[in-house]
Order: sequence, then structure tokens, then C-alpha cells
Amino acid sequence: MRVLAIETSCDDTGIAIIETGQKNQPEILADLVSSQIKTHAPFGGVVPTLAKREHQKNLIPLLEQALGQANFLKPKKFFSRFKNIPSDKEKILKEILDREKNLKKTFIKFAKKYQIPQIDYIAATIGPGLEPALWVGVNAARALSFFWNKPIIPINHIEGHITANFIFNKIGGISNFQFPISKEIFPSVCLVVSGGHTQLILIKDIGRYEILGETRDDAAGEAFDKVAKMLNLGYPGGPAISREAEKRNASFSQTKTYPPLPRPMMDSKDFDFSFSGLKTAVLYSLQKIDKKEIKKLIPAISAEFQKAVVDVLSYKTFKAAKEFSARSVMLSGGVAANKELRNRFMEETNKITGLKLLLPAANFCTDNGAMIAMAAHYHLRKNLPLANWQNLSAKANLRI
Ligand code: KG4
Ligand code: ZN
Repeated sequence: MRVLAIETSCDDTGIAIIETGQKNQPEILADLVSSQIKTHAPFGGVVPTLAKREHQKNLIPLLEQALGQANFLKPKKFFSRFKNIPSDKEKILKEILDREKNLKKTFIKFAKKYQIPQIDYIAATIGPGLEPALWVGVNAARALSFFWNKPIIPINHIEGHITANFIFNKIGGISNFQFPISKEIFPSVCLVVSGGHTQLILIKDIGRYEILGETRDDAAGEAFDKVAKMLNLGYPGGPAISREAEKRNASFSQTKTYPPLPRPMMDSKDFDFSFSGLKTAVLYSLQKIDKKEIKKLIPAISAEFQKAVVDVLSYKTFKAAKEFSARSVMLSGGVAANKELRNRFMEETNKITGLKLLLPAANFCTDNGAMIAMAAHYHLRKNLPLANWQNLSAKANLRI
């Protein structure tokens, strides 16, 4: 079975193609991401209307490239190439893509130029995410489903982040996945931390999830981005703060000191988080520091901020792991690429006998198509419901 997966929930356009069978690990035939960082950087965060525009522009070129990589891109034979697609089909395609003006143009050209590839299913992220961005991928999936006459596998973006932990990263030559997906790893506690989400999820099995706690305000990645903006470190803030913090950690005694920040909700009895107060605490502390001094303090501020976030995230995750007798702990989402967070998770895992740790490869932490394809692989194995071009829609606030 070949699955084509589309991810457009935020600012990355992701397309992946996998070959999946009865084996535990599908083969990744193509996995491409087109990042919009440059477009959003001047605004210090993702602008939904610009994200929509960029997804529309990038989707078909990326699809052609992915199909080419997987060896499925076959131009139509010389004569039929100049034939139009049947007018009734073209009319429906235009209706499906009516709200995606730019995608409509490139899609129709693509449909006229190439033979139908050997793809069996189309997987698409339907939510949660930015509504205008989600719709581009959803409508592209609907158009492909109609034109190729293939069913759709609707995927929750958070489930995609979770299943990124199960991707055997053959392309990079390293595997972070050492355990078969079996009773050995469930129940598992997964911390999903990205620019849009912070959730602690109890996984009883793939497809059986319970949200134990979540952020009451900002997501962890959003806090990284906002603090980085205050410090003029650019967007995305996570990697920038992490780089500055490393400078501080490398020359601890030489850099300036900075007062400790709060660890919000560390002692609350639930598994919820809150990061907006932490961001405000950084802001207030900056107002008390002489402007000329701030630059010198950036590594110290970054290190303290990162440590505060890592302290709270890891404390609550491992508290949940103990309380729910988890066999494993997982980390997911863009912030899971953070080295200090990964190291802390390794340290804490080693303190609990028998506990396993799953970490996605760094390139599968931020949004990508492969994780959506991986989730689709499990949907197929578990015979979960399919969708079609007539009943698929984007759901910005979808819950896992
Ligand atoms: O998963 P993702 O690509 O998009 C969402 O679904 O939100 O996550 C992007 C977020 C951004 O907020 C970015 O600053 C953060 O992940 N991020 C990091 C690191 N790399 C990316 N945060 C902390 N440390 C990092 N190394
Ligand atoms: Zn994400």
C-alpha cells in the first residue's frame, strides 16, 4: 500500500510518501518539507493568511518533487498530454479548490500533465492548527482523492507528532526507535510540546489517548518564541534561545548573573501548565536592567528561561509516568528538538527502573509529512474510518 501524506497545519508544507504493509516499519519513499520561516520571521510569529498563501504556492511543486523521488511521476503520453481532462471532472475540481485560487491553477496544470500515480491512500492533517492553513492541505487532499479516485485517511496533527516517535529514520542512518510497538511500551506518557500545543497525554495504545493536562495559556514553543522576540533573537525562538543558553552553559563563570525565574504551576496537583506568567516575568526583569547591559545578559537570561521551562515540563511528565505506572515516556513536537529537554528526559528516565524513553529524530520533531504518513500507517493497521472528498473538512480545534 502506498500512502501520500499532506501536512499544512501551521507554517511547514510537508509531503511524504510511504510504502506500508504488514511489517512494523513502513518504508519512507519521499519526505519533503518546505519551511516558511523566512516569510514569517519579520513578524516574529506565524501569520495565518501568509501561511495559507505559501502553502498554496508550495504544495504542487513539493508534490511533484516527492512523486519524482518515489519514482511515481510519469508525464502523460505525448498525444494525451495535450488532451484536456474531462470537463465535468475539471468543473468539480474547480469547485473543490474554489477557496484556494493559487492552488487551483497549479493543480489543474498538474492534473493535465501527469498520469495517475500508484498511490492507494491520501492522508491529510485535518486539525488542530491554523484554520486557513489547514484548509489548503484538506482541499488538496479532497482534489487528489476525487481526481485519483482514492480514499482519504484523516489525521489528527497531535497523533502525527506522537507517531513521529515510531519512525525508523533510515534516511539519516540513525534509529531513535528501539522498541517494537507492543505492550512493552504501553501505557506511555507523551509530552507534546510545540509552537501551538502543550499537552501531556496518556497513551494506552495507538488510537487510545487521554489528555492528562495541558497549557492554560501559551504553548511552550510560543513562550520560547515570545521571549526570543523580547531579546531580539529572531524567529523561531526555540533554536535561538537554545544556542544562547549553550553559550552561557559553556562559560558559566564568566557570564553575568540573572535572578531566578518562577517555575509556574510546578506544585499544582494537576498536570496542567502555564507559560504566560514566565514570559511576563522575563519582560519585567528586562525593564529593571540597564538597556546596555541586556545584550551581555542574553545567554544568562536564555539559560534561566530554558531551565525554568525544562524543569516544569520534565517534573510533570515524570510525575505522571509514576502515577500512571507508565512503561515508557515519549517526547513530541518542535520543542522536543531542544537538547536540554532531551538530556533531562534521559536523566529522569534512568532514575526509574525499567522505564523506556522514546525520542523522535530531530528532523521529525518539527512539523513534517512523514509523521502524518506514520499515523496513517497505524490507521490502516487498525482499520480506522476513512473519509472521502465529499465529507472531509478542516477542524482547527480538533482534540485528540
Ligand atoms: O511542531 P512545530 O514545528 O509546529 C507546531 O505544530 O507548532 O513546533 C515549532 C515550535 C516553535 O515554537 C519553535 O520555537 C520550537 O518548536 N522549537 C524549539 C526548538 N526547535 C524548535 N524550541 C526549543 N528548542 C528548540 N531547539
Ligand atoms: Zn506541530
